[in-house]
Amino acid sequence: MPKYNVVSMPGDGIGQTVLPEAIRVLEAAGFEADYHHADIGWEFWRSEGNPLPDRTIDLLEKYKIGLFGAITSKPKVKTAEELDPSLRGKGLVYFSPIVKMRQHFNLDVCIRPCISFPNNPLNFVLRDGDGLFEPKIDTVVFRQNTEGLYGGVEWTNPPDQVYDALMTHPKMQGFADCPREDMAISTRIFTRKACHRIMQSAFEYAKKFGYKSVTLCEKPNVLRETSGMMEEEGKKVAENYPDIQLWSTNIDAQMMWITKNPQDYGVIVAGNMFGDIISDGFAGLVGGLGFACSANIGEEVAVFEPTHGSAPKYFELEPSIVNPIAMILSACMMLDHIGETEKATKIKNAVAKVVVEGKVRTYDMLKLRGSTKAVTEGGAASTQQMTDAIIAAL
Ligand code: NAI
Ligand code: MG
Repeated sequence: MPKYNVVSMPGDGIGQTVLPEAIRVLEAAGFEADYHHADIGWEFWRSEGNPLPDRTIDLLEKYKIGLFGAITSKPKVKTAEELDPSLRGKGLVYFSPIVKMRQHFNLDVCIRPCISFPNNPLNFVLRDGDGLFEPKIDTVVFRQNTEGLYGGVEWTNPPDQVYDALMTHPKMQGFADCPREDMAISTRIFTRKACHRIMQSAFEYAKKFGYKSVTLCEKPNVLRETSGMMEEEGKKVAENYPDIQLWSTNIDAQMMWITKNPQDYGVIVAGNMFGDIISDGFAGLVGGLGFACSANIGEEVAVFEPTHGSAPKYFELEPSIVNPIAMILSACMMLDHIGETEKATKIKNAVAKVVVEGKVRTYDMLKLRGSTKAVTEGGAASTQQMTDAIIAAL
C-alpha cells in the first residue's frame, strides 16, 4: 500500500515535461505514493471555459498535497479567440488558475528557497580586492501569498461609496482636483491573522532548519499601517524564539544589499508584492528560473511548483532541453513539508553532487541559446539526461 497520495497537475507547456521528471526522482529516492492526475491550464479554458475545473479542486480537497508544473496565460484578445465556439458569448471570464487555487485554498504562505549550489556557473560573484569571490547564498523567502497589493481590490473610476469614504482621509485632499475617471486605486490590505501566520511560519522554518535570523523586508517607516502591522506581529512571534534574531530592512535598501552582502541573510519575510520582488532578486543570484522552486502552504492544502512558467517555445523542442531542477527541488519541498526530510535531503544532495561535478549541465547553466541541436553541440544535456544524472547520484 502506498503511503501517500499526491495530486499531480502538470498543466501546460514545459510543466508537462518537468513534472514527470520530478516524479521519476521521487520514485528513485524510495518515496512511495499514488499520483492522481488533475487537469489545469489553458486547454481547459479553451474546451470548458474553466482553467481550474471543479474536479481538480475536489482532488486537492481530498488529498491535500499537490505538485504543479506551470500554466500558460495569454492576452485578453487571445483568451476570447481561443475559447471553444460553443462557449462564446456566455460571459466567461479568464482568471489565472494558480491565483484562483491560492485564493480558494487560502494558500497564504509562499516559500521560495534561494540556495546556491557550489560550482553552479550561474552563481553570483562579488569583487573582493583584485579578485572575485562567490558568496554562499542560503536564503529562504517567505512571501505572504493572498493579500496586499495582489489582493485584487482595485478600481479605476471608483464608485461613490469608495470615493466618498476615501475622501474622509485628510491625505485624499491632495487628489481632490483629479477627475474620478482619471483615478486608479489598488488597495494594500494586510490582516493581523495573515501577518501572524507568515511570521510564525518563517520563525518555525528558521528553527527547523537552523537559521539564525529572520529578516522582515517591508517599508514600515512609510507604509506605517500595513508594514507596521507585519512588524508588530513579527516582534510578538520573535519573543517565542529567543535563539533567532529578528531584523527589519526596507525593500529598497534590501534590493541594494542583495548585491553587496547576500550571504548575510537567512530567512526573509515580506508581504505579497515585496516578497515577489525580493524572491526573484535572490533567485537571480543562485541560477535563475532553472533552479527557483516554491511552495504554497495553507492550513490544510499545500501545492509545490517551480517559479518558472510554461516556456511554450521550449516545449516544442525534441528532446527537451529545459532544466528539471526547479521542479525537482519543489518536490523536495513537498517531502520536507510532509516530514520526509531524509528523502528530501538525499535528493538535494544528489542535485548538489551533479552540479558540483559539472559534467551534466543543461543549456541555461551553460548560458547557451538556440535549438536543441545547437545547445547539444555546445555541450548541453537534455532534460532527461539531467534527471538521469541526479538519479545516478542518489
Ligand atoms: P517562462 O518562465 O515560461 O519562461 C521564460 C524563459 O525562462 C524561457 O524562455 C526560458 O528561456 C527560461 N526558462 C523557464 N523555465 C526554464 C527551465 N526549467 N529551464 C531552463 N530555462 C527555463 O516565462 P514567460 O516566457 O514569461 O511565460 C510563458 C508562459 O508561462 C506565459 O503564458 C505565462 O503567462 C506563463 N507563466 C506561468 C507561470 C506559472 O505557471 N506559475 C509563471 C510565469 C509565467
Ligand atoms: Mg514573480
